[in-house]
Parts: sequence; structure tokens; C-alpha cells
Amino acid sequence: MPLLEVEQLSVSYSGAGQTVRAVDRMSFSVEPGEVFALVGGSGSGKSSAALALTRLLPPSARISGQVRLGRLDLLQATEEQLRAVRGGKIAYVFQDPATSLNPVLTVGEQLLEAITLHTTARGVEAVSVAREWLRRVGLASLETRLSAYPHELSGGQRQRVMLAMALSATPDLLVADEPTTALDVTVQLQLLRLLRDLQRSLKLSILLISHDLLVVERIAHRVGVMSQGCLVEAGPVAQVLRQPQHAATAELLRARDALAFPA
Ligand SMILES: Nc1ncnc2c1ncn2[C@@H]1O[C@H](COP(=O)(O)OP(=O)(O)O)[C@@H](O)[C@H]1O
Ligand SMILES: [Mg+2]
Repeated sequence: MPLLEVEQLSVSYSGAGQTVRAVDRMSFSVEPGEVFALVGGSGSGKSSAALALTRLLPPSARISGQVRLGRLDLLQATEEQLRAVRGGKIAYVFQDPATSLNPVLTVGEQLLEAITLHTTARGVEAVSVAREWLRRVGLASLETRLSAYPHELSGGQRQRVMLAMALSATPDLLVADEPTTALDVTVQLQLLRLLRDLQRSLKLSILLISHDLLVVERIAHRVGVMSQGCLVEAGPVAQVLRQPQHAATAELLRARDALAFPA
């Protein structure tokens, strides 16, 4: 049974007399322990789809379809049920760690907040859980890191903290929306390697969102390609990339090759 099953998901935004259909009757699933990537150009609807899963969209957004996590249809769930899902069963990591972390709280305070909110660990136990997560995301010299403020860390370190916060809730599904896009290329690679290692060792289920096929082919098992709000093809990564069926996929492949072999 899939962990997450999305059927006919649509998202539209209305405002100023206009309606934008950002996601158009999209269906896909994520199996337990699988990395499913959504890939597509800018504005193709990836983030709207990711946020719609737990109804994290602004009031101007209309969402329809079904999003099943186990037996719960998240689009029919009560606010109370959704609060337990957001950050708990489904945790997010976004592109920009500078805006996702609170600048006036230390790393330790924010990590502990996530742990107490989503697990039963308290007091010294919570602190040791926090230390363990910092170790797992490769942030050495733990003591200093716990008392550091976000601005004292590099972009890559901040993104590792975000990952630790997301994973410390032991979510069923991690949604990572362009998690490496804001980082330098070498730091991107380090973070991707970390994500891949954690995925394997913890058997994480991940919905990975990216505009970059180089990212997708390093870590995803299956990929769905989005274009203008529609999922235009999906399948095992090797198959989709070797035999693209849609012009949007071919275009992403050309962009990847231009990056890999600049003229
Ligand atoms: N909050 C919003 N209000 C109005 N339109 C939006 C909003 N967020 C996204 N859009 C529009 O929805 C479409 C899909 O955007 P988005 O989901 O951000 O795509 P992606 O993540 O693939 O770049 C775009 O046309 C974008 O302009
Ligand atoms: Mg986006």
C-alpha cells in the first residue's frame, strides 16, 4: 500500500479578477522507503502541489482532489488532524534556510522545540535526542552548534539544521522542496550525499522537488515530470531520463547537459 496517494489534485489561485490553475488534476503516489521526485521548470506547479498536501496554501488557493496518508484524506481532515500531520507525519524542508529558521532563537532551542512538539522526549532526554540528530546530519562540535544562532552558521549548516529539525519529528514522509537550490555547487553535493545516506540508513520516504535533473538522478527512485501544472510523465528515473516521452522532459535533459558540459 502506498504511503501517500494523491489523486486528481488541483490547485488554483484567484485574485484581481484572474484565476491561475497552478496544479491540474495531478495523480501520483509515494511508496514506503521511496524517493519520489517531482521535477519541472520554474512555475510548473511543484511547490503548490507540495504545499497543497497538508493545505499549507494561502486563503486565495482552492484545492480539490484526494490526498491520502494511510487512511486519512488530508483534504477532508479537520484543522486539528492537520496540525498533527504538519511537521509531524509530514515534515518539510524548504529552499531557503535563512527564512525558515528563527533568527532570535539558537539552533538548540529550535531543535528542542521541534522535538518536544512532535515526540515524547523531554528534558535531558530531549537534549540528547537533539545532539544525536545534529550528529546524524554531520554537524560536529555539538556543544557549540546547539548554542549557535542561525546567522553564525553557513547556508549548508543551516540547511543541515533544518533537516535535523524535520527528521527529529520522525515523519512518515519528508517533503524537500528544492532543498539544495540556494547553496553553492560543492555544498549542494555534500547535502545531497547526506540526504541520500540518511534516506538509506533510516529508510526515509521522501517527496523531493527540484528543477534540476542532476539532483533527481542522484537520489530519486521514481520521477514525475511537471509542466504547466500537469504531471506529463512518471516512472523509474533511469527509464524516464533515457527515454523521455514528453517535450518538457527533453528540455530538462538539455538543461542538465548544458550544466554538465558547458559550451
Ligand atoms: N500564492 C500564490 N498566489 C498566486 N499565484 C501563485 C501563488 N503561488 C504560486 N502561484 C502561481 O502558480 C504557478 C505555480 O507556481 P509554483 O507552485 O510556485 O511552481 P514551482 O514550484 O514549480 O516553481 C505559477 O504560475 C505561480 O505564479
Ligand atoms: Mg517552487
